[in-house]
Amino acid sequence: MASLLKLLSFALTASALTIGEINGNKFLSAYNGQTVSNVSGIVTAKGPDGLWLRSTAPDRDDKTSESIYVFGRTFGANLTVGDEIVVGGRVQEFRSNKDYLYLTELSSPTLQEKVSTGNKVKPLVIGKDTLDPPTEQYSSLDGGDVFAVPNNVSLVSVANPVLNPKKYGLDFWESLTGELVTVRKPTAVAKPNNFGDTWVIGDWKVTGKNGRGGLTMTDRDANPEAIIIGTPLDGTANPKNTKLGDSLEEISGVVTYAFGFYRILPSTAIKVVKSRTPALPDATKFVSAGKCDGVTMGAYNVENLAPASAHLPKIAEHIVTYLKSPDLLFLQEIQDDNGPTNDAVVSANLTLTTLISAIASAGGPAYAYADIDPVDDQDGGQPGGNIRVAYLYKPSLLRLYKPNAGGSLDANEVLPGPTLKFNPGRIDPSNAAWTASRKPLVAQWEVIDAKAKKAATFFTVNVHFGSKGGSSSLHGDARPPVNGGVDDRLAQAQLTGSFIASILAQDKKAKIASAGDYNEFTFVEPLEQFVKISGLKDLDKEVGIKDVERYTYLFDMNAQQLDHLFVSKEMAKKAKYEHIHINTWVDAATMISDHDPSVARFDVCA
Ligand SMILES: *[C@@H]1O[C@H](CO)[C@@H](O)[C@H](O)[C@H]1NC(C)=O
Ligand SMILES: *[C@@H]1O[C@H](CO)[C@@H](O)[C@H](O)[C@H]1NC(C)=O
Ligand SMILES: *[C@@H]1O[C@H](CO)[C@@H](O)[C@H](O)[C@H]1NC(C)=O
Ligand SMILES: *[C@@H]1O[C@H](CO)[C@@H](O)[C@H](O)[C@H]1NC(C)=O
Repeated sequence: MASLLKLLSFALTASALTIGEINGNKFLSAYNGQTVSNVSGIVTAKGPDGLWLRSTAPDRDDKTSESIYVFGRTFGANLTVGDEIVVGGRVQEFRSNKDYLYLTELSSPTLQEKVSTGNKVKPLVIGKDTLDPPTEQYSSLDGGDVFAVPNNVSLVSVANPVLNPKKYGLDFWESLTGELVTVRKPTAVAKPNNFGDTWVIGDWKVTGKNGRGGLTMTDRDANPEAIIIGTPLDGTANPKNTKLGDSLEEISGVVTYAFGFYRILPSTAIKVVKSRTPALPDATKFVSAGKCDGVTMGAYNVENLAPASAHLPKIAEHIVTYLKSPDLLFLQEIQDDNGPTNDAVVSANLTLTTLISAIASAGGPAYAYADIDPVDDQDGGQPGGNIRVAYLYKPSLLRLYKPNAGGSLDANEVLPGPTLKFNPGRIDPSNAAWTASRKPLVAQWEVIDAKAKKAATFFTVNVHFGSKGGSSSLHGDARPPVNGGVDDRLAQAQLTGSFIASILAQDKKAKIASAGDYNEFTFVEPLEQFVKISGLKDLDKEVGIKDVERYTYLFDMNAQQLDHLFVSKEMAKKAKYEHIHINTWVDAATMISDHDPSVARFDVCA
């Protein structure tokens, strides 16, 4: 009889679920929607809306988290960290947006028993008490490439794969949700967002580390080893002025998922220990020779620049001080003369002359400009701003070769020579590929040199492809994630590439430089196609800039390159090139544009 009772009580106890069993070895709990009881755990942390509980009966499976979030505003009132409790409740998969992943939580909790108090709670040190975070791939559903096209061919919430935390970043962080963890020797790999949330890496193994301490995205490596540090649990606020590469104090907190990302909610605000030096990058080494064997070109997305922009004098100062006043500038995001005022104004003459005056005031040369007004409200960007690409050039050294400016809707053509029908002129501006996007501006230039036997000429294509707006999170449900506008950029790359190919078809030794904000990475289909069709070469590769130093932009956890310079074979000879990290290295308040500029030097002699 006694042994039967014992057996019975064992059976009853065994039927109570552990936290590991509730979480299971997949993204979604097998018990979603079910009411459970007798769940045992120790309180590891408390937040404004609930608390975190760690199992008293952990398993040895790396795939199952041993902790869970218990959601209930008043539930924790009489509980403190270190209490061992038995709870019941409802297992729930929660997300605040259909594009996010679900978080497994215990809702409508009831306290069945407080077993003991004062138990020791030790965070798991990431990479020591846990596996190392995977460094390259996010999900088994990405097919090996988080930027593969087509996007969104499957959803984590539907496929619900068994976790492989050794190999996939999402699986790794999922296998730790609810867990109290420590990040040792954290480094900030980006600037905080508006809420102070800051991406970090710890002392674990990483790939893609750049010289500044950030992580650069490379082909098939989009850095899942980084984690964002969210709102502190104690009501303090993370600093807003953290910079790329800052060393931080050790961070402890709980792993959760919110606002589209796995994140750690730290027990208290993060603290910067040390920033990188020097605070600012060096000015470019590539200075104009003032003649055809050393023509300098700069490219800069100046972020919605209008005559009244507060950042206009600072852009001018960057051009003079850091870019050393290149002979030719490829600018993107030049707005019309009254900026975002949404009226019929499309001319940017005042914007460009105001910038030119500011450059002269900063000690720079007297630039001239060339651009073509878009049709009102047809080129995307900030409403009313009519952003376009534009050139500034030194009229003492360069002039448009046989100038003949095209209109907004004139499609440029390559004529025998090769020369251009419109100089400058836009590429196929009525093509549907450019709906709500900037049309590239092609120009042919001549170096002014009275002594030259033959005029040195070269072509340029100033590009600002469609934006990545509408992208889904790298930590989101859609796999591979939605790369917003990728189909538009593919069509744009094909048109631009074909135009350039038609110049090279006439003269394979033509000197061509195509620069600007391509809004895409070189290892993603639009730019792979662009290189193939155009016949141009990626100048970063040609001059041997290390993969991890190829960045002009910070987004989420990644230092990344949206701005590129592609050149013809003839133009690549003796070329020099560098990115000037004047905006990625500084804090959010000091940043002048969201992009870094770049500078190149070429021998364009005939
Ligand atoms: C939960 O524990 C109580 C006693 O603490 C017991 O009466 C009950 O049967 C248990 N329920 C399950 C599902 O194990
Ligand atoms: C906390 O304890 C007090 C006193 O025992 C009790 O009145 C109250 O209901 C408890 N609160 C919760 C949320 O359990
Ligand atoms: C991904 O595709 C699904 C349909 O399978 C759709 O419901 C969802 O909105 C898409 N996600 C995004 C971010 O576009
Ligand atoms: C802008 O300048 C160009 C010459 O550079 C001129 O043809 C055009 O009329 C000007 N536009 C306005 C609105 O002044």
